[in-house]
Amino acid sequence: MTDFVRMVEVGPRDGLQNEKAPIATADKIALIDRLSQTGLRTIEATSFVSPKWVPQLADAAEVFTGIQRAAGVAYPVLVPNETGYDRALAVGVQEVAVFTAASEAFNRKNTNAGIDESIDRFRPVLARAAADGVKVRGYVSTVLGCPYQGDVAVADVVRVARQLHDLGCYEISLGDTIGVGTPLKARAMLQAVASEVPVSSLAVHFHDTYGQALANILSCLEEGVRVVDSAVSGAGGCPYAKGASGNVASEDVVYMLHGMGIATGVDLEKLSETGRWLAALLGRETGSKAGKAMAAT
Ligand code: HMG
Ligand code: MG
Repeated sequence: MTDFVRMVEVGPRDGLQNEKAPIATADKIALIDRLSQTGLRTIEATSFVSPKWVPQLADAAEVFTGIQRAAGVAYPVLVPNETGYDRALAVGVQEVAVFTAASEAFNRKNTNAGIDESIDRFRPVLARAAADGVKVRGYVSTVLGCPYQGDVAVADVVRVARQLHDLGCYEISLGDTIGVGTPLKARAMLQAVASEVPVSSLAVHFHDTYGQALANILSCLEEGVRVVDSAVSGAGGCPYAKGASGNVASEDVVYMLHGMGIATGVDLEKLSETGRWLAALLGRETGSKAGKAMAAT
């Protein structure tokens, strides 16, 4: 059997949430519809968070109802609390993602709550989701460093990941929110988490601030991770993480995986075209090296 990695495309959510100029709802829908034609199986569509906190995604309901949902593709959305869950459920969302952090300081900036308080907010969401047949993914941010606290203890990452797993999240995505990690630290963190949560339930989510994302992904693949988050054209960043830059570019990850003989089901040509289309929409060059190289050949 061919080795397979499931790519979780977070471009429409993480990629766009920090854009200052408003992006038209129709363009967000067009982005997701293009991504749906690339062979991706998971596309994080938007966030049902407070519009005061993330104005760019205030049109979450319109985006979600406007997209053409392709067969076999999951379209999870972020929800921070029951209000977000109610809004998501009202438009027919079938998968949500809850998010907290390994750093208390970051979580307060991002959600106005401590880690334990945020997990308490998720309990009713997970209970209702189980009854509603809605899948729940969990994010742990700042797994390799925090913009406010600095170093983050691996034991804190393990504890929070374990809590989300025990609460019923089917997958835990480990986020290097500000992209400060390096491969040996990423591997050690992953090994520690995998000693408490099955590696088959783990995903990795690297931002590329210091150009380490692909190297970090490779070190986690070697530990058995088979789910990788990324954003087309390398868009993105968290508005409440000082210094955070784009996610690792999906095109670059797919290029690396295919070159290693690992299947993703993704058409790299179509993905790269979409990345260049998005970059043009945002008025900048694509942040994907593979995307740039493929345009030149
Ligand atoms: P708060 O102000 O403490 O919330 O924010 P509250 O419960 O006191 O409510 C205040 C107001 O917001 C009320 O309205 C609520 O109804 C409303 P008002 O009475 O003032 O008119 N409200 C909502 N409205 C719509 N949807 C909702 C919602 N909840 C409350 N869901 C809150 C707390 C968590 C809501 C806020 O801090 C928030 O929305 N934070 C989200 C920040 C965010 O989205 N950050 C980026 C995503 S995380 C990330 O990027 C990291 C990741 O990529 C992984 C990585 O890279 O590490 C996932
Ligand atoms: Mg992120």
